[in-house]
Amino acid sequence: MTHFLDIHTTSAEDLRRMINSAHAMKAARNGRPKGTPDDDQPLKGRMVALIFEKPSTRTRVSFDVGVRQMGGETMVLSGKEMQLGHGETIADTARVLSRYVDLIMIRTFEEATLQEMAEYATVPVINGLTNRTHPCQIMADVMTYEEHRGPIAGKKVVWCGDGNNVCASFLHAAGQFGFDFTFTGPQTLDPEADWLGFARSKGVSVQVERDPAKAMAGADLVVTDTWVSMHDPESAKERRHNQLRAYQVNEALMAQAKPDALFMHCLPAHRNDEVTSAVMDGPNSVVFDEAENRLHAQKAVMRWCLGL
Ligand code: CP
Ligand code: NVA
Repeated sequence: MTHFLDIHTTSAEDLRRMINSAHAMKAARNGRPKGTPDDDQPLKGRMVALIFEKPSTRTRVSFDVGVRQMGGETMVLSGKEMQLGHGETIADTARVLSRYVDLIMIRTFEEATLQEMAEYATVPVINGLTNRTHPCQIMADVMTYEEHRGPIAGKKVVWCGDGNNVCASFLHAAGQFGFDFTFTGPQTLDPEADWLGFARSKGVSVQVERDPAKAMAGADLVVTDTWVSMHDPESAKERRHNQLRAYQVNEALMAQAKPDALFMHCLPAHRNDEVTSAVMDGPNSVVFDEAENRLHAQKAVMRWCLGL
């Protein structure tokens, strides 16, 4: 069974193959209307279940459209409306869904839920975000960097703010795609030691720098994310804002990076919290290409999972 659960548990060769396939599929669409099918229809006759236990705009729409472009059909399921939200086990849900559908994408809270789904499903399972990782996002981010600037290997990526789930998948990607990674944020929100250790074990430079201006030196790509993630308690909001204010990505901070450094954000953004509108809408920002590339990257991930 070929699941797509995380960047660090997928081989570097397969990740590269998926990125190349995503570029090719994007090019093949060549400005065609969004609703039109692709020339090849590898998902014809296949059904994909998209399960959401948390809100989503990009993940939901990009998976749904991607499946349809490839000739398949989708079923979007809300965790709350399923028996899953009323006590049925993940294992039983996985076994039942596997009798109906060809592929399962799940966005959930605990990583253990994703792992259990993958253990008991007899069809591939894709991680659409957990509290700990967001691998589909980072496939789109690597694709977006390379589309604008060429190979990401050897480049310097600076993550600014909370060492969260998106940051974790970026660290995994640093190891797998061979780029250097600097985290800048408060110590209490450092990425988990395992994630830093994974990237270091692959021989790339991984730094933790408390001073955001110093961290930016030589940056090819600057990335941030919300200061309060969906799994963070609302009660943590004020404390997190106070801790993270110094790490806002604004024009003054971007000026410390290389002049052609790109800016990325997985979105949704909180304008004038983690990033100013001047940066989001500025010449170095590629946030909407990044959002578009979720579609192309995930189509490649789904094909890989299904061996198509
Ligand atoms: N970036 C991302 O995953 O967005 P959604 O929460 O809208 O899916
Ligand atoms: N870190 C954010 C990412 C949203 C796409 C969250 O988990 O809420």
